[in-house]
Amino acid sequence: MANVAVIGSQWGDEGKGKIVDWLSSRADVVVRFQGGHNAGHTLVIDGVVYKLHLLPSGIVRGGKLSVIGNGVVIDPWALLEEIDTVRKQGLEISPESLMIADNASLILPMHGAVDRAMEVARGSSSIGTTGRGIGPAYEDKVARRGIRVCDLADEALLKQKIENLLLHHNALLKGLGAEQFTTAQVYDSLMQISGSLLQYAGPVWKRLDEARLRGEKILFEGAQGVMLDVDHGTFPYVTSSNTMAAHAATGSGVGPRSVGYVLGITKAYTTRVGSGPFPTEQNNEIGAFLGEKGHEFGTTTGRKRRCGWFDAAMVRQAVKTAGIDGIALTKLDVLDGLDEIRICVGYRLAGKEIDYLPSSQIAQENVEPVYEIIDGWKESTYGARSWAELPAAAVKYVRHIEELIDAPVAMLSTSPERDDTILMRDPFVQ
Ligand code: GDP
Ligand code: IMO
Ligand code: MG
Repeated sequence: MANVAVIGSQWGDEGKGKIVDWLSSRADVVVRFQGGHNAGHTLVIDGVVYKLHLLPSGIVRGGKLSVIGNGVVIDPWALLEEIDTVRKQGLEISPESLMIADNASLILPMHGAVDRAMEVARGSSSIGTTGRGIGPAYEDKVARRGIRVCDLADEALLKQKIENLLLHHNALLKGLGAEQFTTAQVYDSLMQISGSLLQYAGPVWKRLDEARLRGEKILFEGAQGVMLDVDHGTFPYVTSSNTMAAHAATGSGVGPRSVGYVLGITKAYTTRVGSGPFPTEQNNEIGAFLGEKGHEFGTTTGRKRRCGWFDAAMVRQAVKTAGIDGIALTKLDVLDGLDEIRICVGYRLAGKEIDYLPSSQIAQENVEPVYEIIDGWKESTYGARSWAELPAAAVKYVRHIEELIDAPVAMLSTSPERDDTILMRDPFVQ
């Protein structure tokens, strides 16, 4: 039995939440290890919709431990609000079912303010961030001035740390013409919620080590996707963390061998929210068809997602850079009804054909996709629960994708509902 890490293989919103929820029935512990409330993971169970941002998607199943690892940046107000929301939906959340790493970094109000003011200042070259303060919070962590969950327990140190933090951020906010913060303002608002947050806090690495010794199965839940990774993505149009499964280890405090099978969640076409290159984008009726049929609106910001054809060259690159062992192919049903389907198999750049997305920002903007055209299918695959229910052309599409990306399809998803899922190969059993 291996542990499993679920990551996105494109630009996020591949359906990670649905797959993590499905797989969590086989796991004992579900761990978020990076990102923050920029993520939006949607689960649909018997028609009931859960929208999760910081809480691991295993939270909806009773009897599982949900963990927020040290690699996550936590906005305590957003987290407590999310706990409130899901409680109202009938879920039970307690320190027995949720644990937060006491060494995780906090997102504070000045981070969101700086994020949003910087985006305005960037003008036409804005990244299109979620405005949640993710980038500035990770910057503070790496600059060693950030405030961590455990700091909330030491009031004198906390005050001093806020002062130090504001020295930096108020200078920035002043330069950007935005409102500044006072130490008392930040300190008082943190004091109001510190107890509520600290009840969940503890040494996550220790709890995960106990899980390992007891033979419990761990499911690591990534946020965003490989092409939003700060090293391997379409820099600078990326998020500020490593979105790879490799980061599941450092982002939660386990060794690299504990990560196990890497499942890349992969949409049967491509979407992207925010700015940045997107070689197979379809700014036409095809893009509109995919967006409408796939309900492509962001879970976190409600923004319309950009849509385009499946980019096999890009996903193959994600398979290699992230060490993806197999994929869960989602939203196959959205392609139902198309006469023909295009798959990008490589790019043309300055008259030459290349089989990978180059690192340079300019090259990424200029690559032209090289397409293969294959037959579509008219039958509905929506809600299919077995391979036998799929039309021959859909089977051909899936098999061809496997070849092109050099990874097997371990799971297939055909609707937002939990059980409209086809398992071909159990990631936990290798
Ligand atoms: P995540 O961020 O990777 O968890 O993905 P999101 O939840 O942001 O976006 C995926 C959307 O597609 C959600 O609204 C899901 O309910 C929905 N979804 C997931 N799998 C499927 C599928 O196989 N078919 C269809 N039609 N919708 C799906
Ligand atoms: P899930 O987990 C899609 C994008 C933003 C922006 C860039 C940087 O739901 O797949 P940030 O706020 O992180 O600094 O924004 O990253 N982005 C996502 N896009 N899905 C996500 O998460 C995303 N999280 C961030 O749109 O382009
Ligand atoms: Mg999402």
